[in-house]
Amino acid sequence: MKKITIAIDGYSSTGKSTIAKEISNKLGYSYVDTGAMYRAVTLYAIENNYFDDEDFFRNLLIADLDKIHIDFKYNDNLGYGEVYLNSKNVESEIRDMNISNKVSVVAQVAEVRRAMVAQQQKMGQNKGVVLDGRDIGTVVFPDAEVKLFMTASSDIRAKRRFDELVSKGDSQVTYDEVLKNVEERDYLDTTRSVSPLVKAEDAVEYDNGEKTREQQFEEILYIIESKI
Ligand code: DC
Repeated sequence: MKKITIAIDGYSSTGKSTIAKEISNKLGYSYVDTGAMYRAVTLYAIENNYFDDEDFFRNLLIADLDKIHIDFKYNDNLGYGEVYLNSKNVESEIRDMNISNKVSVVAQVAEVRRAMVAQQQKMGQNKGVVLDGRDIGTVVFPDAEVKLFMTASSDIRAKRRFDELVSKGDSQVTYDEVLKNVEERDYLDTTRSVSPLVKAEDAVEYDNGEKTREQQFEEILYIIESKI
């Protein structure tokens, strides 16, 4: 069967990574969580205290970009690749609210995006790959055979993210805080000057607000299989 490129873009907490993992496992494709890459860069910036200096944070980050190495290593037990920052597994650390609150600012830096996009294009150069993010169908792989654009209301998305954080043991987080973060990220992601989140003209818009995981999987697999 011919191998294709599958681009899954959309708003934060629309379940892009869940569906991307399921589809990549079903098809035997690799999976690239591009949001995890921007989150790993954010973690690096926090660890190096770049956020302490608002004026210079961009310059510091840009100067250090070649010191930031991001890889994915497949974990058999989990069934997907975990993200590594300079050889350290940071898969769980990068999901903290502290990172979520700062990542959109990092993702606005043009030089950061250029470096990440180049790595993503390399990871997907042999096709047989599912990538999820914000600019996959528009910038990273504008020729992807399948492009999906995932949506759901901000309430539903915040509820999902809140439940996920609570199930991971975060007892401090509140629903209102998560909703605020989701809405702020929507704003920053859609209004930034470099590669804003926008639906590619040829993407299929998919609202999963009222769908079960199984329904979603079946319907999206159907869309993909019609292209293979
Ligand atoms: O998918 P996520 O929530 O883990 O993404 C984290 C942030 O990274 C999100 O607020 C926007 C940014 N991002 C991006 O700008 N481009 C991508 N391709 C993926 C994520």
